Amino acid sequence: MALENENLPAPPRHIAIIMDGNGRWAKKRGLPRTAGHSAGAEAFRRIANYCRSLGVEYLTVYAFSTENWKRSQEEVGGIMLLLRKYLEEALLDMEKNRVRFRFFGDLSRLSPQLQKLCHDAENRSVSYDVQVNFCLNYGGRDEIVRAARAFAQEVAEGKRRPEDLTEGLFSNYLYSAGVPDPELIIRPSGEMRTSNFLLWQSAYAEYVFMDVLWPDFGPEDLDKAIAEYHRRSRRFGGV
Ligand code: IPE
Ligand code: IPE
Ligand code: MG
Repeated sequence: MALENENLPAPPRHIAIIMDGNGRWAKKRGLPRTAGHSAGAEAFRRIANYCRSLGVEYLTVYAFSTENWKRSQEEVGGIMLLLRKYLEEALLDMEKNRVRFRFFGDLSRLSPQLQKLCHDAENRSVSYDVQVNFCLNYGGRDEIVRAARAFAQEVAEGKRRPEDLTEGLFSNYLYSAGVPDPELIIRPSGEMRTSNFLLWQSAYAEYVFMDVLWPDFGPEDLDKAIAEYHRRSRRFGGV
C-alpha cells in the first residue's frame, strides 16, 4: 500500500537503477571491492523498501552484466556469494516483504544452486504485486538477439509470419515481457553511459545521472532523482 504524500506528484510507476560505484566506494575506504558490493546490497535493500513505501510498482536493478564476467574470479565469486545470501534471506522473509521477484538475464551461466534460488524466488512470489526485476547476467543486446532468435524460430516452425512482428509483439519476447517500460532510469557513480542496460525498454525513459556512489545512495537521493524526473518535459516526439 502506498504511503501517499499529498504534496508530491505520484512517483514513476517503473524505476530502473544501474547500481554502480561499489568498487570506488570500497577503494576510497581502503577496503576490498567485495566490501563495496556488500555495502551495495544494503543500499539495494534500503531503496527497494523505500520504493515500496512510495508506491512504485516496478523496480528494475542492474546487478550483474554480461560484461562483468571480465572481472577477477575473486570478485565475481564474491558477488555470486552475496546474491546467494541475499536470495536465501529474501526467501525466508518472503511472506513479510511480499515482493514479487523476476530475473532478467541468462541465468544458465550461474551456478545450479543460484539458478534454483532464482527460480524459487520467482515461483514463490508470483502473487505479490510490488515487483523487483533483478538483472543478472543481463545484457541489452543479448536480450534483443535472444528475442529475435525466438521469433525467427517460430517463423521457421510456421507459427508466425515475418509480417506479424510489431514493436508490441517483439516486446513479448524480451525478458521484460509484460512489464511496462521504465519512465525513469537512474545511474549513480558519475558515469554517463547505459553500459548495455535496457536498450529496448529505455527508448523514452528519462535518464538521471548522479554523482553519488551506489553504496551511499539513500532515500533522499531517490527523492532528488524523482524530483528531477518531474521537472522534465516528456514529449515523446510531439511538441
Ligand atoms: C557496480 O559497481 C556493481 C557491479 C558492476 C557488479 P562496480 O563494481 O562497477 O563499481 P565501480 O564502478 O568499479 O566503482
Ligand atoms: C554496469 O556497471 C553494470 C552494473 C551496474 C551491474 P559497470 O561498472 O559494469 O559498467 P562500466 O564498465 O562502467 O560501463
Ligand atoms: Mg562500475
